[in-house]
Amino acid sequence: MSVQSLLSYALTVPELKAGQKFYATFGLAPGERDGVLAFRCDGRDQDQVFLVEGKKKRLNHLRFGSDDQGIATIRGRMRKRGITEIDAPHNAFGGGLWLEDPDGHAINVRPESAQPWRSAPAFAINSPGHYERNGRRGAPKRHEARPHRLGHVLLHTPRLDQMVAFYTETLGMKVTDRVPGIISFLHLPGGGDHHVVALLADARSGFHHASFEVASPDEIGLGAHQVLSAGYKNGWGFGRHVLGSNFFHYLRDPWNSLAEYFCDIDQIPADGSWQAEDHPPEDSLYLWGPQPGDFALNFEEA
Ligand SMILES: [Fe+2]
Repeated sequence: MSVQSLLSYALTVPELKAGQKFYATFGLAPGERDGVLAFRCDGRDQDQVFLVEGKKKRLNHLRFGSDDQGIATIRGRMRKRGITEIDAPHNAFGGGLWLEDPDGHAINVRPESAQPWRSAPAFAINSPGHYERNGRRGAPKRHEARPHRLGHVLLHTPRLDQMVAFYTETLGMKVTDRVPGIISFLHLPGGGDHHVVALLADARSGFHHASFEVASPDEIGLGAHQVLSAGYKNGWGFGRHVLGSNFFHYLRDPWNSLAEYFCDIDQIPADGSWQAEDHPPEDSLYLWGPQPGDFALNFEEA
């Protein structure tokens, strides 16, 4: 098997302090690793976001986990396709294999597996016919959102077909769902979340959003409240997607890209039985929620 997990992403940003404040408000724990600003999810011994300083906000790199055999498989595919290894970008600690996707984003595949994450208690809800929460308040005891893992990233791309080909044929991911010419959702070859990478057609490449899982729709609401109360701009939400089915709320970071809280995302079976399908454009956004407004726009500076 080739890539087995999405470990982390790194952004180049013009102001580290602004980034630290945003992600801490969002509910991640800041720290420093090898001189780089890093963030972890609640109770989890693994960095999931890195920020490095640079002129403009950009995706600095995506990091995937695999094993030695998976990395050897990817190396073999690179040789066949004439894709060469690159050096690790400035400020990214090395290790593993570094290559570039067709949009020029640095990709790292390391011999590392995803650490276990906090298993939150099951969301207790009084649904019709199942009134199980007798004499207890429904709201969670913790009045703050603390995401427990990074779920996925979405990138704008002017080369949708080439990017899908790279992530599937070189990295070994699989297409979950497609809205032809608009968006493709990709899952890991071992199944799991409906998408860990999504690719959205645009005139220019860019980092659109990263998404973090929380325990319940309640925690999505708490998270949006804590970020909006701190003065950050709303992105889009609360709502539910069609493809992936997840509940969502997106908040704008200081550079107009987005951080998403999600829960209840569709799970793809590990046995490879999932068949990718094409969907109509109206399925690319939402089942319900507020009007998307400028949600899908690419604000990344050229
Ligand atoms: Fe998302």
